[in-house]
Amino acid sequence: MSPATAIGSPLSLPIAIDLAAHDDFEAWRDHARSLLRARIPPGQVIWNEPGQYGDLLASASGATFSEKRIHITVSRDFLELGEKVICHNDSARFALLYRLLWRHQQHPRLLQDVADADVRRAQAMAKEVRRDIHKMRAFVRFRLVEEGKGEERYVAWFEPEHHIIRANVRFFVDRFANMRWSILTPDLSIHWDGALLSETAGATARDAPQGDPVEDMWTRYYASIFNPARVKVGAMLKEMPRRYWKNMPETAIVPSLIAGARARESAMIAAGEDVFPTQFPESLGKVAEEIAACRRCSIGCKGTRAVSGDGALDGGVMVIGEQPGDEEEKAGKPFVGPAGQLLNRYLDEADIDRGTLYVTNAVKHFKFEPRGPRRIHQRPTAGEIDTCRFWLDAERSILKPRTIVALGASAARAVLGRTPSVQNERGRPIALPGGTQLWITVHPSFLLRAADTIQKREKENFLADWVKIREAAFPPMV
Ligand code: URA
Repeated sequence: MSPATAIGSPLSLPIAIDLAAHDDFEAWRDHARSLLRARIPPGQVIWNEPGQYGDLLASASGATFSEKRIHITVSRDFLELGEKVICHNDSARFALLYRLLWRHQQHPRLLQDVADADVRRAQAMAKEVRRDIHKMRAFVRFRLVEEGKGEERYVAWFEPEHHIIRANVRFFVDRFANMRWSILTPDLSIHWDGALLSETAGATARDAPQGDPVEDMWTRYYASIFNPARVKVGAMLKEMPRRYWKNMPETAIVPSLIAGARARESAMIAAGEDVFPTQFPESLGKVAEEIAACRRCSIGCKGTRAVSGDGALDGGVMVIGEQPGDEEEKAGKPFVGPAGQLLNRYLDEADIDRGTLYVTNAVKHFKFEPRGPRRIHQRPTAGEIDTCRFWLDAERSILKPRTIVALGASAARAVLGRTPSVQNERGRPIALPGGTQLWITVHPSFLLRAADTIQKREKENFLADWVKIREAAFPPMV
């Protein structure tokens, strides 16, 4: 006998299936198998989502139907497609999947027929669901909430288009394993306490926190680096649809920035741009404190120790690496591991005292992938570098270095706002607004990894870059 709830006979009357969840593919599959074994054709089945018709049909139910032992064919492709389609918000999805499964028994290659209307609809639904999953990963913004007794929780509000929360939850658990967090959505809220996941009912935007103390500063900063000359509204809307903006602090000001873009552009050209119009925290100590608490990108959210800059405050030269490595994270200081030791050697050879430099990184948290007991370095993305640029600009606004040395493309991006070709732009100063000179050279770990055939030449070039930097930044006293 079937686990499904049926009304009437299998011969002609409709069969109502009451689903307990919107997104449970396994449960749908159990029902679909029973229906298939009872040879109930798709046109005879009514699929009820939770809350769809109240208990109207369910209350009339109770009949059962008998199943035959038949072999059911299900391809891996169908399962993969079904797991996505089930998350769509179209109430026709359950019927569509059953129709496909039914037809699939006669035509095992059905899913390859891209001209078939059912196949096309299912693929389009799967695509929309994948897109929604991606948007949630990109646009969820956590805000810190103090829960008392020193406990902290990061809470985000998100409004998905489809039923994707459970399908996406593993991503957030893996990414933010060390944090306690909650994602509130209208249909369902999920909570992670560092070890266990739990679910509660849906929430409203008012249940989520509305901002944190640095947020105002962050918003002003975003306004200051917004380049009106580069606004491509169509591309922006495609990548970041307007419906997500309201939950992202940095986008709250985008509409007014776009509206004023043209006027701002002319004013910028006429007046020359202020180097740092934003008000940053007033001391490096305060900046370091805020960096330690920063969870604005997924690297920071892992909760590892942040590494702020370190070194001379009045030497006028700032050296920027990519991000702290394993040893730097443990020591809490930049460039103390193998790359740092190599850097020290070349500084010595170029006759530069590292004690006269302020050394920092483009990204302040260590991005890695655990591999057994080891933590393997992972490159930060352009988005992560751009997010962390707020902190580098805070260091720059306080120290006002005359010379900046960017070690590698990530560091250069953090200064220029674009990723340059290091080999094309190295070895000569680049003038920055405010009179600062930027020098770009390779990252020392590039030398550690370089093939034997180019290593000698690359080492010579690296030393030559540092000699030029010394001549420009520390001219001899006469
Ligand atoms: N590599 C970097 O870019 N920065 C460090 O601090 C260490 C290694």
